[in-house]
Amino acid sequence: MTVRKRIGVLISGRGSNMSALINACKEPDYPAEIVTVISNRPEAPGLENAALAGIPGEVIDHTSYSSREAFEKDLDKALNEAEVELICNAGFMRLLTQGFVEAWRDRHLNIHPSLLPAFKGLHTHERAIEAGVTISGCTVHFVRTQMDAGPIVAQAAVPVLAGDTADQLAARVLEAEHRLYPLALKLVASGNARVEGERVIHRAFHSAGNTLFAPEPG
Ligand code: GAR
Repeated sequence: MTVRKRIGVLISGRGSNMSALINACKEPDYPAEIVTVISNRPEAPGLENAALAGIPGEVIDHTSYSSREAFEKDLDKALNEAEVELICNAGFMRLLTQGFVEAWRDRHLNIHPSLLPAFKGLHTHERAIEAGVTISGCTVHFVRTQMDAGPIVAQAAVPVLAGDTADQLAARVLEAEHRLYPLALKLVASGNARVEGERVIHRAFHSAGNTLFAPEPG
């Protein structure tokens, strides 16, 4: 029987990456299950999709807290109450303090729509087009205190086409995100990818199509 890691997904909005993870978790042998979805924004559309999938959703509205620490205390409490083993940020647009990050160190993933360490932060696709890169993509990494930084689990590359608008590139990258995040979570939840120092060591080389790449075996 597959042992499933208990996942808490953090969202702030649409939650399409959350939906990709929910779908992946339906596979009988998938090594993870989503036990809670938490949004820091009450109006996040992703909450409805979580409910439709039968996953308990919760709002912890950061605007009703006077400090980041107070918000994170309740976030941590909710994750622990749900017995979460691994957090997946899925469009969670909130910077976390060192205390929270350290408490969940190596048990916390994020997806970012660029080939990190390039184009951290906001307006990723505009900046990629402006820089004239011909390849962009997305990255799943373990969370560290620096924004959009930390040991890389897997990356997917997509072409930047001549005349692309930021929206066109974002849509192409998002498709890759929906394939990459389930793959990366599977690698981590199954123990086939683990952090050693500030690098991720892979037990075996994994790829799923020629646009997804993972590091060579460790
Ligand atoms: C995704 O493109 C994700 O990579 C990005 O926000 C979007 C959320 O979409 N995250 C970041 O930029 C984090 N720095 P979704 O809500 O549909 O998953």
